[in-house]
Amino acid sequence: MFDAIRSDMRTVMERDPAARSALEVLCCYPGVHALAFHRLGNRLWRRGWLGLARFVSHIGRFVTGIEIHPAAKMGRGVFIDHGMGIVIGETAEIGNDVSLLQGVTLGGTSTRREKRHPTLCDRVTVGAGAKIIGAITIGEGSRVGAGSVVVRDVPPNAVVVGVPGRVTYKDGQRVTGIDMNMTDLPDPVSRAIEQLLERIRSLEADLDSLRKAVDREGLSSAGDAP
Ligand SMILES: CC(C)(COP(=O)(O)OP(=O)(O)OC[C@H]1O[C@@H](n2cnc3c(N)ncnc32)[C@H](O)[C@@H]1OP(=O)(O)O)[C@@H](O)C(=O)NCCC(=O)NCCS
Repeated sequence: MFDAIRSDMRTVMERDPAARSALEVLCCYPGVHALAFHRLGNRLWRRGWLGLARFVSHIGRFVTGIEIHPAAKMGRGVFIDHGMGIVIGETAEIGNDVSLLQGVTLGGTSTRREKRHPTLCDRVTVGAGAKIIGAITIGEGSRVGAGSVVVRDVPPNAVVVGVPGRVTYKDGQRVTGIDMNMTDLPDPVSRAIEQLLERIRSLEADLDSLRKAVDREGLSSAGDAP
C-alpha cells in the first residue's frame, strides 16, 4: 500500500508542473490523500470489512471532497488533479497512468447490482467536469474533453468532446460526420434538425404539386381564352 502511495506522489511530481517538492505533494494534494484513503478502504473491502471500508471512504470524502467507492478498482500512477467534486462509483475500473481532473463523475445508470460504472483503460485523461455514465469503456490513451457527457464506448487513442460526447479525433486524425461512430446518440439538437429537414422536404413536395396544379390551370385557362 505504501508503495502505491509513493507511486501516486511520484505521478503528481511527473505530471503537474505546479508541484515543487515531495513535501508539498504529501501535504497539499487532495488527490494524493483521496487515493491513500481509497487504497486503505479497498484493502479493507477486499478482506470483507465492508462497513469499515465504507467509513474510511467516507472520511476520505469528508477531508478531500473526492468520493471513491472502496470497491472501485484503481491502477497505478493515477493522477487526480484538484479533485473536488469527483465521484467514482462502485464498479468503476481505472487503469494505469489515468488522469482525472476536477468534478469528474464515473457514474452508473442501472439500479441493479451489476457492472454499471465505466472502465477507463490505461493512459486515459478525463477533463474537468466530464461525466462518463454507464458500463462503457474508454479506450487506451483516449482523452475526454472538459464538460463532456460520454454515454457510449470510446475507441483507443481518441478525443471525445461535447454533450453527448462525440469522437472528434482518432489516432491524431480529424473525424467528421458519420465516421464519428456515434450517430445513434440521443442528441436533441441533431434530432430537431432532422425533423426540420423532414418538414422542409414535405413542404417542398406540397409546393411542387401546387406549382404543377397552377401551371395546369394556367394552361387550361389560356386554352379557354378567345
Ligand atoms: C478535449 C481536449 C483533451 C483536447 O485537447 P487537444 O488535443 O489539445 O485539442 P484542442 O484543444 O486543440 O481542441 C481540438 C478541438 O476540440 C475542441 N474542443 C476542445 N476541448 C473541447 C471541449 N471540452 N468541449 C468541446 N470542444 C472542445 C476545440 O475547439 C477544437 O476544435 P477544432 O478542431 O474544430 O478547432 C482538451 O481540450 C480538454 O478539454 N482538456 C481538459 C482540460 C481541463 O479540463 N483543464 C482543467 C484543469 S482543472
